[in-house]
Amino acid sequence: MKIVYLNPSGQMGGAERSLLDFMASLRAAEPRVALELITGADGAFLDQARALGVAARALPYPRSLARLGDAGAGGGGKSRLLGTLGRASLSTPSVALYTRRLRHALSAAAPDLIHTNGFKMHVLGAWAAPRGVPVLWHIHDYISSRPLMARLMRANADRCAAAIANSLSVADDVRSACGAELRVFPIHNAVDLRRFSPEGPALDLDRLSGLAPPSDPVVRIGLVATMAQWKGHEVFLRALEMLSGEPLVRGYVIGGALYETDGSQCNLEELRGLAGRLGLAGRVGFTGFVDDAAAAMRALDVVVHASTQPEPFGLVIAEAMATGRAVVVSRGGGAAEIVTPGEDALVHEAGCVPALAERMRQLARDPVLRAALGAAAARSARRRFTRERLADELMPIYRLLSAQAA
Ligand code: GLC
Repeated sequence: MKIVYLNPSGQMGGAERSLLDFMASLRAAEPRVALELITGADGAFLDQARALGVAARALPYPRSLARLGDAGAGGGGKSRLLGTLGRASLSTPSVALYTRRLRHALSAAAPDLIHTNGFKMHVLGAWAAPRGVPVLWHIHDYISSRPLMARLMRANADRCAAAIANSLSVADDVRSACGAELRVFPIHNAVDLRRFSPEGPALDLDRLSGLAPPSDPVVRIGLVATMAQWKGHEVFLRALEMLSGEPLVRGYVIGGALYETDGSQCNLEELRGLAGRLGLAGRVGFTGFVDDAAAAMRALDVVVHASTQPEPFGLVIAEAMATGRAVVVSRGGGAAEIVTPGEDALVHEAGCVPALAERMRQLARDPVLRAALGAAAARSARRRFTRERLADELMPIYRLLSAQAA
């Protein structure tokens, strides 16, 4: 059997980390299944796929396509990017040309199934798939919050054999956006439990973010996230401000800009400016993008997830649990499916600064609670997030769809 994966980005975002886990799981369980990856841009993702034995190459998007999207809407809000439609549309000649090149590449690869992993590739894959080759959409985000993509996916759902969703919550959204005829299989993500484990090296977050080493031991609380606007950076900074009475707490914003899509990023300089105005200078550090997220998490006592919209899954939550951290999670979405509040994580109302500040204060003051939550989180992670599960859940779907297509 041969699978071709189509992914819009060449950079390592959440959807790419997830797909790598699926590919790694398949390589281990089904070494005879040939895996190929085609991306819409070059980048580190391709190298990581190659390291797993996946044949990977970029078929770069034309500029108009690279910038097209409404990812800034995040998990549940209204898209603010409909204006993008005025500037670029999927009916331009460059997109038609790209679709032809993609069809050519797919015909040459002759896969048994095409597994697409991002909105633009869901649509382009449906258009470019050679006749008789099933297309499986792997959906990582809420469709209904992205009006342009929702419309395109609904219009092309009949060219798609089935969809995978990264949570039950996203599966429901896909069904309501694309219609009940589309078969949707929820599969929760996994994490590399050897890499994301409680033991291992930890980064020096102070040095990375240019903070002076503290003279007394501090409790380190960090938001680990891409710079998407809905990831709640501002909520986190404002919650830190409310903890001004806790001198031994240090905050860290860990992550950097990633995607090219118009308007979907918050700006690190603006966040630094906000931190300054909130009087947080010296109490919050900005590391920028870090390669080794596990080592960054191990340097933290508390990992904060502060998404202001429902989180489709929340890979960072799963990773933080696997590294045995005390995690604070914002309520709602698929994230609610992967934690047991009060047992292996604390939960706060999404977007509510005082609620997040209260959870952070509680954890900053209580090392016993931190240790208990972290140990329970590591246990839950070993149960819920093993990579082996991915191949077990995915292979029957591949087999079913390719048998139906034959
Ligand atoms: C997307 C989602 C995120 C999820 C990731 C992997 O980035 O927004 O919630 O963890 O995909 O599925």
